[in-house]
Amino acid sequence: MCGIVGYVGRPKSLEVLLGGLRRLEYRGYDSAGVAIITEDGDLVTRKRAGKLAVLIDDLAAEALTDGSTGIGHTRWATHGGPTDVNAHPHLSRDGKLALIHNGIIENFAELKAELLADGYAFESETDTEVAAKLLGREYESGGGLAAALGRVVVRLEGAFTLLALHKDEPLVVVGARRNSPLVIGLGEGENFLGSDVAAFVEHTQRAVAIGQDQIVTITPDTVTVTDFFGTEVQPTEFQVSWDASAAEKGGWSSFMAKEISEQPEAVANTLRTRIHDDHVVLPDLAGLEDSLAGIDRIVIIACGTASYAGMLGKYAIEKWARIPIEVQLSHEFRYSEPVLSPTTLVVSISQSGETMDTLMAVKYAIEAGAKTLSICNTQGATIARESDAVIYTHAGPEVAVASTKAFVAQIAALYLFGLHLAEVRGTLSAEATKEALGELSSIPGKLEQVLLTKERIQELAKWMSDSRAVLFLGRHVGYPVALEGALKLKELAYIHAEGFAAGELKHGPIALIEPGQPVFVVVPSPRDPNSLHAKVVSNIQEIRARGARILAIAEQGDAAVLPFADEVIPIPLAGALFEPLLAVVPLQIFAMELATAKGLDVDQPRNLAKSVTVE
Ligand code: F6R
Repeated sequence: MCGIVGYVGRPKSLEVLLGGLRRLEYRGYDSAGVAIITEDGDLVTRKRAGKLAVLIDDLAAEALTDGSTGIGHTRWATHGGPTDVNAHPHLSRDGKLALIHNGIIENFAELKAELLADGYAFESETDTEVAAKLLGREYESGGGLAAALGRVVVRLEGAFTLLALHKDEPLVVVGARRNSPLVIGLGEGENFLGSDVAAFVEHTQRAVAIGQDQIVTITPDTVTVTDFFGTEVQPTEFQVSWDASAAEKGGWSSFMAKEISEQPEAVANTLRTRIHDDHVVLPDLAGLEDSLAGIDRIVIIACGTASYAGMLGKYAIEKWARIPIEVQLSHEFRYSEPVLSPTTLVVSISQSGETMDTLMAVKYAIEAGAKTLSICNTQGATIARESDAVIYTHAGPEVAVASTKAFVAQIAALYLFGLHLAEVRGTLSAEATKEALGELSSIPGKLEQVLLTKERIQELAKWMSDSRAVLFLGRHVGYPVALEGALKLKELAYIHAEGFAAGELKHGPIALIEPGQPVFVVVPSPRDPNSLHAKVVSNIQEIRARGARILAIAEQGDAAVLPFADEVIPIPLAGALFEPLLAVVPLQIFAMELATAKGLDVDQPRNLAKSVTVE
């Protein structure tokens, strides 16, 4: 939440900052702003409420003097509404220093009271302005900008990434982070800072992740990282594994459309190099290998879409590795006094690797002595760094706010882990492992086939664009798919949508069914060994008898569903545990197309942001 970019180098800051903000806009799009130290040594700023385009138009109408040093921000409002005044950057009292912030400073009221008592006045309602004024005051005590920042951050509580520049140090940008992300981009005669590598990947693929409670100072030719007290630390450099074109729309109508289409590749890349001779090979687990055999319980923690991947992981891993698994929302887990021990493995799932709820839950688990594994899509992200081991999903950058390709990649990674654990525990025969790996490896090709249903779903979505409520039903692994279908529709099309376990219907929700009510039903395969197919077909009949309009997602050739469904969207044959990877795709497309039919922005739905870095 909130995108941050910093630059120092050639006299072209504005272009770099706006390019970075464009790529970071998915992190928040309530307002945007920049601050630049001009070649004449002046500090100039411009900030506007609304999407980045508003700021860009404003800069086109009235140019801002460019310079070699700048910071830029795109905001997801927390303290104070999305107005010009509340937009970042915020200035020190003397106007010589500008500061931007991602996160929440929890003790800002106390600090503000201190500054008010000291005669300071405030323009905005933000916690950020308090940090700007505090840093300006601290700078006056001497020692330079980085040292002043060190003295300020030790007084802050909460989560923050701060970037600041001062006109008396014209070729310096400083940054500090605690629990919010910050990455350095290393250039030639120029250096960058960003909330994530997307901020600078068009300029450099050499990156350095900044650790917890660290301060960074960049100049055109130097990068210095210290702890909050000025002791230098040696961070490790990494190479960004994707280039700028991966984060471009590339001719697609939206990032979401592009990312939905990239799902075959996202799964294939996540599996690549990890399956050899009918075994799962996960060197990624090196940090856990000694303890894996002794694990007697797993808790999966995640939020939103990632938590539905976690639910699917539970079905598969419990079945294969015969180990008890609970799935908890990260923000509930942490406050439920969970019972954890050194033989508990806490598996966190996070596309961004920065979701604050999940990060805090991981930290809680570490403090309680549990082992930790993360499934993460972002190289060097905090959750990955904090965990004992990480299995990276190689879905590539996910820019649309609604998660799609990361979801299928998360399921693939969890299934790989489950099959590996089953081998460690000796709970699955070689033949069954081989069969499961065959199923998994066939998913990318089958996803290509599901994508061919797009036009038909587009028609359906157009036709249903006036719907006021849509329900989603599924059983067993179809249930998380139903929840995901409902979440996608809510967040993209702003339509009331609910996902239910089909068996639960008769315990209450069936009262919602009235003539014409659209209900998507995820139908298990008729070959399902648990005979769930017949039960779901009965559920369809029950709601159809009450007038529901049935939209079934069913296996190709499932003749039993045809007589009772108004629409059948076919998916290729797959083993029971693997169907969700296919069945979710029509629901993603449906939500996207319905939102598009309503004229909504599918990449940046209202009130949302990717990377939820506040609790
Ligand atoms: C929904 C969506 C969210 C995220 C959730 C967790 O489309 O994208 O529900 O899944 O905010 O985000 P990560 O995976 O980054 O921790």
